[in-house]
Amino acid sequence: MKLPKINILDEKNKTLRLTSKNVTFPLSEEDKKLINDIIQYLTMSQIEEYYKKYDLRPGMGLAFIQLGIPKNIFVIVEEVDEEEFKNYVIINPKMISHSEELIYVGEGEGCLSVNREVEGIVPRYARMRVSYQDIDGNQQEIRVREDISVAFQHEMDHLNGILFVDKIDKNNPFKDREKMREI
Ligand code: NI
Repeated sequence: MKLPKINILDEKNKTLRLTSKNVTFPLSEEDKKLINDIIQYLTMSQIEEYYKKYDLRPGMGLAFIQLGIPKNIFVIVEEVDEEEFKNYVIINPKMISHSEELIYVGEGEGCLSVNREVEGIVPRYARMRVSYQDIDGNQQEIRVREDISVAFQHEMDHLNGILFVDKIDKNNPFKDREKMREI
């Protein structure tokens, strides 16, 4: 596998703060290629052979805005089994509903745009239902839970110019921990 050349913006870059816009269909060939490049990059970043070879930080999600493109598109690559992956290509997402229950990732969230260790709790809905369009523009609906629900919320925040670090209380990074379930 060849590592796609993509340039991921760092958190200091103000472009990450833009609000992304909905896209129309059909997608451009350029956007389709970028989606495939992101899938390949995220997949390789989760395979030991490649993340060692290319010195990658493992990541499961990336939004277009992290490449400087303010379009409502994100990709999640989930390792469902050893080196077996499931891809989510989510375009123009909208949250329909969410659980009351909140969760947080115990080891902390990570982001390919945030190159430092960040301590603290990011409250996320345990489950939610999202409508979106697939790569062909078909309207779809998905119900996500646990870590995939966190990943969806993390990426949907990117589309609104929000980074996970914004959601951590700097004076009290573990605030309200007892009100949420750790995953
Ligand atoms: Ni991120």
